[in-house]
Amino acid sequence: MKFFIDTANLQQIREAHDLGILDGVTTNPSLMAKEGISGKQNVLNHYKAICEITDGDVSAEVISTNYEEMLAEGMELALLHEKIVVKVPIIKDGIKAIKAFATKGIRTNCTLIFSPGQALLAAKAGATYVSPFIGRLDDVSTDGLMLIEDIRTIFDNYGYPTQVLAASARHAMHIINCAKAGADVVTAPLVAITALLKHPLTDNGLAQFLADHAQATGKS
Ligand code: E4P
Repeated sequence: MKFFIDTANLQQIREAHDLGILDGVTTNPSLMAKEGISGKQNVLNHYKAICEITDGDVSAEVISTNYEEMLAEGMELALLHEKIVVKVPIIKDGIKAIKAFATKGIRTNCTLIFSPGQALLAAKAGATYVSPFIGRLDDVSTDGLMLIEDIRTIFDNYGYPTQVLAASARHAMHIINCAKAGADVVTAPLVAITALLKHPLTDNGLAQFLADHAQATGKS
């Protein structure tokens, strides 16, 4: 399973990259705003800075909602860097845009997926990735993981090459459960990724090993 980090924060992207486990980055307009990035040129420069840190794909989201504007905006984003994947919302014009981008060889990430039918349409249109938002479904008492399982089954039934990018993963168990459900990619904040490291028995065991070693070598 690929690990993407879900942030526009350059320091956190660097930290995840330095761990050696980072396969890409996802952003959205809210995450860009959180970093105080605004104005077209600043936004484009920030995407370029992200692309220079990571070796993998970088999802950059269009803010247009009609077909022609999405196409123009997506083309500009795609031309920015070869790592850019154009992130497009699952709306009618978005599906048309994904189809047009696929025809031109431009990779897309279809975002704001909350149902298997939305994912199926995006795959048919030729999306490179679909982003089902599991955390936001859990927020409204709906099982987000079930959506990952359903999309996995549908894509496998027909051999769609579209990758299931589990998004809105908020904690370590989301990541584990996405891996069990067969997501191709999970995108999560750094804190959720590093939480996978944690186990009290590891901490206790390491402390004991170091104490025993110190005692045996007379360093305690
Ligand atoms: C996906 O690409 C989105 O950027 C993101 O995962 C949304 O996460 P949230 O629901 O925690 O805002």
